[in-house]
Amino acid sequence: MSTPIPATLIPGDGIGAEIVDATLAVLDALRAPFVWDRQIAGMGGIKTAGDPLPQATLDSIRRTRLALKGPLETPSGGGYRSSNVRLREEFQLYANLRPALTIIPGGRFDKIDLVVVRENLEGLYIGHEAYIPIDGDPHAVAMATGINTRAGSRRLLEFAFEQAIATGRKKVTIVHKANIMKALTGIFLETGLELYERKYRGKFELDTVIIDACAMKLVLNPWQFDMLVTTNLFGDILSDLVAGLVGGLGMTPGANIGADAAIFEAVHGSAPDIAGKGIANPIAIMLASAMMLDHCKLPDLAQRLRRGIDETLNIDKVRTGDLGGSASTATFTKALASRIENS
Ligand code: NAI
Repeated sequence: MSTPIPATLIPGDGIGAEIVDATLAVLDALRAPFVWDRQIAGMGGIKTAGDPLPQATLDSIRRTRLALKGPLETPSGGGYRSSNVRLREEFQLYANLRPALTIIPGGRFDKIDLVVVRENLEGLYIGHEAYIPIDGDPHAVAMATGINTRAGSRRLLEFAFEQAIATGRKKVTIVHKANIMKALTGIFLETGLELYERKYRGKFELDTVIIDACAMKLVLNPWQFDMLVTTNLFGDILSDLVAGLVGGLGMTPGANIGADAAIFEAVHGSAPDIAGKGIANPIAIMLASAMMLDHCKLPDLAQRLRRGIDETLNIDKVRTGDLGGSASTATFTKALASRIENS
């Protein structure tokens, strides 16, 4: 029996409760040692505590340093900042890790296995934006400032390189636009090349590619890549592109990792159009919980969960509607739990 691991659980909005409950059922089948502290955020936080990120939720994550999070709705208007962005800033979650792995064979792109590592705190997403009014037009000029630091680039690149070694990746590709944004993305490229020469040469192959060429190459021949590491904006776009290569958002987990905490989530949102219908695909957040098991040094449990998902989809052929099947969330979860119990 493993040592109990305290962790915060945020079911979130929309389909959140349905997919999180499904995940808890399979983690129970695995006898995963998490001891959950259930907290609220998003619309649930606004309704109950008047804040999309209540203090009790922040305190819980500060204590456990580990969270599994369902999707959070950010209401447009009302002056609320995105809870996801606030969480990243609050806990300095500087690395966003998004693996994309083909689970159902025979799609447009088969046998995809790559990972995007995105810098999560700097770049053009720092929110320094302004308009300059001219001649009565309040929005005549729009400006945004991007900031990348040597230290911020280095800690993200170091995380990516260590992750590449720990997971046996053969090649890491730094994605940039240093031909045009010479300072802003040049510093990231320069820091990566310098770090590789100083500490990592020979441990894996390092390559560099300009973002626009990278987008084209990902569509023409995604198999040439193994791990992509890049700045905030490029990483945001590329990680959705890569999710598309493996069948869309329903299959893609993400991890936000920092010095103070690690938060695991599905990449998709709260899917309000299907919330409460019992038909949501819970795989993305289940795969996020597998990443959480890896993070807690329980790779055998993570592997059993991933194998169970693969077998339920491909041997039992139990699939939810978004994957072309007719199973409900509950039917899929039951089939997976019994696969795990018998594994
Ligand atoms: P969405 O990802 O919620 O939905 C897009 C489409 O994919 C919908 O048709 C939905 O039914 C479908 N879908 C998503 N997840 C699915 C699943 N697990 N199974 C089956 N179908 C699924 O994106 P949308 O509609 O743009 O956003 C809805 C809300 O979610 C917004 O308030 C947005 O701010 C929030 N959001 C939160 C995120 C987070 O907390 N990490 C990420 C993205 C959006």
